Amino acid sequence: MENKHNQIEQTISFVKSQLKNAEGGHDWFHIQRVLNNALLIAKTEHVDVFVVQLGALLHDIADSKFHNGDETVGPNVAREFLMKINVDSNVIEHVVNIIENISFKGGNEPQNFTSQELDVIQDADRLDALGAIGIARTFNYGGFKNRALYDPEIPPNLAMTKEAYKASNAPTINHFYEKLLLLKDKMNTETGRKVAIERHVFMEQFLEQFYAEWQGMK
Ligand code: ADP
Ligand code: NI
Repeated sequence: MENKHNQIEQTISFVKSQLKNAEGGHDWFHIQRVLNNALLIAKTEHVDVFVVQLGALLHDIADSKFHNGDETVGPNVAREFLMKINVDSNVIEHVVNIIENISFKGGNEPQNFTSQELDVIQDADRLDALGAIGIARTFNYGGFKNRALYDPEIPPNLAMTKEAYKASNAPTINHFYEKLLLLKDKMNTETGRKVAIERHVFMEQFLEQFYAEWQGMK
């Protein structure tokens, strides 16, 4: 127990230093919120809390978005670190599998690994993409990519593949339709779904107000 506590502390320091220069929506505070969400959801699930903690802390350790699309960097960085601090090898394999399978992509394509711990962390990560925080993160990311907020001449095209969407430099508001508004139906846990629905309603209200203001009303 003492040892696990120590390993969590070491992981927190490692993640903080790794994410020092991260974009505002994928920084240490995102990890902290996901960890808190995950611990809350874990209370009503039968999971290994140590695996949930490590998985939440390391889930974005080297996000492929920021590594030229390379999806092997994150899992490798995590494995190497966990070996260095002497985490049990079964736990390491579980955590690495979680990192490999957590992204949104896992929601559309068949997932080749499942676990309750992954379900909890995935819900926790999705919750941070919703509600007021989700809206803030989305516009921050759009700014980071120098995208327009909204362009009435570029309506969201739901038939677009993820790759085409990324290449299109579509306005930030389109991301709500490509991803954010779809998340509430993808939640794995009861607790996650309940909170997701509340945050979804808030985002719908935001969009309604946004379009009204765009027209010069309100
Ligand atoms: P995950 O890491 O959960 O697989 P992402 O890293 O793709 O998901 O998305 C996390 C958050 O980053 C999103 O919820 C959103 O706020 C922001 N984001 C990612 N891609 C885009 C995008 N194309 N446009 C605007 N925001 C984005
Ligand atoms: Ni994340």
